Amino acid sequence: MPSASEPPGNSTHTAPASAGGKIIVLGEHAVVYGHTALAGAIDRVVRCQAKPTDGLSTLSIPAWKIEVSVTDEDTPGKALRALLLAARADSVALHADSNIPPAAGLGSSAALCLAVARCLAPDASPEEHRAIAGAGEAQFHDRPSGIDVALSQCGGMARYDRLGGLVPLNVPPLSLVVGLSGVQRSTAVQVANVASKMTSDQGQTATAIAEMGDRAKEGIAALRNGDMETLGRCMSACHEALGIIGVGLPRLDAMVEVAMDAGALGAKLTGAGGGGAMIALAPGREFEVCAALGAENFESFVTTLGATT
Ligand code: MEV
Repeated sequence: MPSASEPPGNSTHTAPASAGGKIIVLGEHAVVYGHTALAGAIDRVVRCQAKPTDGLSTLSIPAWKIEVSVTDEDTPGKALRALLLAARADSVALHADSNIPPAAGLGSSAALCLAVARCLAPDASPEEHRAIAGAGEAQFHDRPSGIDVALSQCGGMARYDRLGGLVPLNVPPLSLVVGLSGVQRSTAVQVANVASKMTSDQGQTATAIAEMGDRAKEGIAALRNGDMETLGRCMSACHEALGIIGVGLPRLDAMVEVAMDAGALGAKLTGAGGGGAMIALAPGREFEVCAALGAENFESFVTTLGATT
């Protein structure tokens, strides 16, 4: 990993363990309610090492400005407690580094939880790692669908739903532009807001959620057929639906507009929304879209989904 730094005095540390981030192309939020989503792994990771300690267990992630102990009541502190309990681990000082932007919808918390699980229980099975990571992820997310941890574990491109779990897709890697809003947000808060809208509006949220599930299935079929125009249209339709369920943000809408004007076939927010990142599908025009975003002072990069396994 290009940006990872060694923890200080690493001679007594465990072997490093790592796990990667993800991008949801279609179906975020809908997947919480049992619908299908399409997602792919990205080549950005969290890397973690542990060192036994006589004191309280701690977790330090300088890249995300996180420094917590097991008694802290903030989200990372609670996640640390849950991870240690699930892994039945003794007192440890955990040090992690990452090149995934935190709280941006790119799977940073799932990658962290899985890297910690692999680090604390190196001989555990993939199912045990998933269970340990899931216990930590439940502190970052409200009712996590499990897609982030599953994708981080399996890599590649995949469809996912709660019932069937992750199904790998045998499709070529997908190039996307990622625009960063720079606004950090809590997935748990966004998911809880959608849940309360679900019960309080006149069915608009439920209809938009079902629409996103349908567009995810259509987009998966389009991806399998190499039909990028339809995939792009499904992405834009989902962006609109994500606005209806209340997780949009004017800054994300502005980035979507810039990307579409620069020739993208589709663009949308990705992840929980309310901040975080936008993705745009612009085969062969990725760098034009990045340049257009840059001209409006939006930070962006090109990534390839499903290139890592
Ligand atoms: C978060 O990456 C995606 C959501 O659908 C939540 C989840 O699936 O747990 C918003």
